This record gives sequence, structure tokens and C-alpha cells, in this order.
Amino acid sequence: KEALRVGLLGCGVVGSQVARLLVEQSEDLAARVGAPLELVGIAVRDTSKARDGVDPSLLTDDAHGLVARCDIVVEVLGGIEPARTLILESFAAGASVVTANKALLAQDGPTLYSAADAAGVDLYFEAAVAGAIPLVRPMRESLAGDRVTRVLGIVNGTTNYILDEMTTKGLAFDEVLRTAQELGYAEADPTADVEGHDAAAKAAILASLAFHTRVSLDDVACEGITKISADDVAWATETGHAIKLLAIAELTDAGVSARVHPALLPSRHPLAGVGGAFNAVFVEAEAAGPLMFYGQGAGGAPTASAVIGDVVSVARHRVLGGKGPDESSYASHPLAPADAA
Ligand code: NDP
Ligand code: HSE
Repeated sequence: KEALRVGLLGCGVVGSQVARLLVEQSEDLAARVGAPLELVGIAVRDTSKARDGVDPSLLTDDAHGLVARCDIVVEVLGGIEPARTLILESFAAGASVVTANKALLAQDGPTLYSAADAAGVDLYFEAAVAGAIPLVRPMRESLAGDRVTRVLGIVNGTTNYILDEMTTKGLAFDEVLRTAQELGYAEADPTADVEGHDAAAKAAILASLAFHTRVSLDDVACEGITKISADDVAWATETGHAIKLLAIAELTDAGVSARVHPALLPSRHPLAGVGGAFNAVFVEAEAAGPLMFYGQGAGGAPTASAVIGDVVSVARHRVLGGKGPDESSYASHPLAPADAA
């Protein structure tokens, strides 16, 4: 079979690991897809920067030119622009897109879903929520025949890592945040993590999938962890509790409600023991009952695992035919008024 041309937008924490896996696992991937995957280019800002294990001849600063010659585009740039325009250009050129960009999906998901559906191509985004944990696919596909009533969990690795290190090692907030950045857990602007906006974006995506409705970042009530002091953390530990940043999306009598805020959990609560940059999410559905998803929620390799899984899915569709779920049509529950959240 003819090779499928893959273009990678971004070669940072996640992109460098995606590039590595595409090359290291090329034989296995070809066997699983039914056609070779050829990495034809990697768009970055600075083509002169040394990048371990990446063939420099693949680097380009012409992202628009790259997406025009691909079958599959992987967007791991982050931010709204130029990611949004490049994804729309990819669809217009007939390419399927895999993205890890929760900020963009939470702000403008419906535009992207509609454009993908109009072009008859895939938009996959497993890595946008909870890193390596398979959660988006179960929400989009496995639970599509059930009625989800509640999604609750820890969906930001950086803040969980910070709270955990403050609790277990007594380290200061700023010091732990710096380490989280060095480990590649934090967003390019870590304000998005510590103020809860990243978790809120993920809550919006999960709520949209869970309740077949349109929830954007602005619909999610949000409080981060910047007001949590070392004294708060010490007091929580002394009294047998843990402080966790929770994302909650639920179907209430008033409609769909989504929020993010720190919560005091008794230490016996299953979420209280989630350490490091791990995430854990409970989903409750009418027929399935309670489900729990757990794993590494941030970091280059874990996130790249989810990205590559999506690449395989969209590549299989191109080889065998078929397409992922259509997210542009919504059955639709109303959103709860803000004061009901
Ligand atoms: P990084 O900041 O590490 O990497 C971003 C990459 O994109 C860099 O290679 C950068 O180029 C390139 N880039 C940025 N802007 C442009 C532009 N305008 N034109 C060309 N190239 C550009 O980010 P991450 O890898 O951490 O994150 C990428 C995406 O994945 C984000 O959407 C993030 O939210 C998401 N994500 C991240 C996770 C993580 O744990 N880090 C987990 C899950 C999702 P250069 O190298 O030249 O600067
Ligand atoms: N900054 C994000 C986090 C990356 O810490 O969870 C994973 O989405």
C-alpha cells in the first residue's frame, strides 16, 4: 500500500516524543495500519534548535506548506492561533487531524468538528484530556449507547503534582511549579494550570462528550490552586484529608453543569491517593454504573502514546474506509444557569 504522509506541527515536549515513536515503531505501525506512515515534515518556530533524535532535514518553519501535502496532520503546537487556522487548512486539503490542544477544542470545538465533518475526515483528540488515559474514546464511542450522569476527577497533572509534593515533601508552591515545568507537565504558560483553566478546558470537552451538548470554556465555573497555602496543605494532612483540584461535570435538573475547584477529600477517598502527575476520573452512567479511569495525565511520552493511538485510528480509516464519530450534531441538553452550578 502507498505510504500515508504524516505532518507534525510542533516538536516540543509532546511533539518530540511523537516524532520518536513514529520513527522507532514504524514497522509495527505499518503492520497495524495496513500501510506505512511516512513522517514528511515537522513544523517548528526555530529550525536551528538542536532536537535529540529528530532528523533535522524534516524541520520546517512553513507549517502552512506542510499541511497542504499531508494525509494526516498531528497538531501539538498548543494555543489558539496558528493552530486553529492550520487545522482548518488541513481539513480543506483533505487531511485528517489528531490534536492534543484542549484549549482550542474548549474554545472553538464546534467549528473544528463541523469543518472535519464537512470535509469527510477525522478529528481525533484523545491526548487533549488526561494524557495517556484512554478517556475520550470511551466517552465518544464505548459509552455512546448509555446515559452519562456525572464525570468527576483529577484532570490536571501539574496541579496534582504541586499539591502532592507540597503535601508529601513540604516543598514550596513556586519551587514545585518550576520542577513541573522542567518535567514537561505544565503548559507553555503555566497560569493555565495553576488557575484551573486547563482543567476547565478538559471539563468542557468531557461535558460536551458526556452530555452530547456544547460546553465551552466560558461555561465552566473555575477556581485554581493559587490561593492554597502551605498552611492549608499542612492542616488538611493533620486532619486526615487531601486537597485536590477537581473537575466536575454533571447533569442536574437545571441542565448540564461543569466546574473546577479545589476540594478537601477524606484521605480514604480513592482520589485522595492519586499522586504525582497522575489523573483519575470517575464516570457514572445509568446502565454501566460507575467507571474509573487512572493513569499518567501529563508528560511527553504518556501524551505521545495517546496521540499515536489516534494516528493509528485515523490512518486505519484512510486505508480501510470509515470515519470517527460525528461531533457536529448534538442531541443536546441545556446548560444549567450559572447560579445553579
Ligand atoms: P511545547 O511548548 O513543549 O512545544 C510546542 C511546539 O510547538 C514547539 O516545538 C514550538 O516550536 C512549536 N510551535 C509553537 N508555536 C509555533 C508556531 N507558531 N509555528 C511553528 N511552531 C510552533 O508544548 P507541549 O509539547 O507541552 O504541548 C503541545 C500541545 O500538547 C499543547 O496543546 C498542550 O496543551 C498539549 N498537551 C501537552 C501535554 C504535556 O504534558 N506537555 C499533555 C497533553 C496535552 P519551537 O520548538 O521552535 O519553539
Ligand atoms: N498541563 C497539563 C497538565 C498537560 O498538567 O495536566 C496535560 O494535559
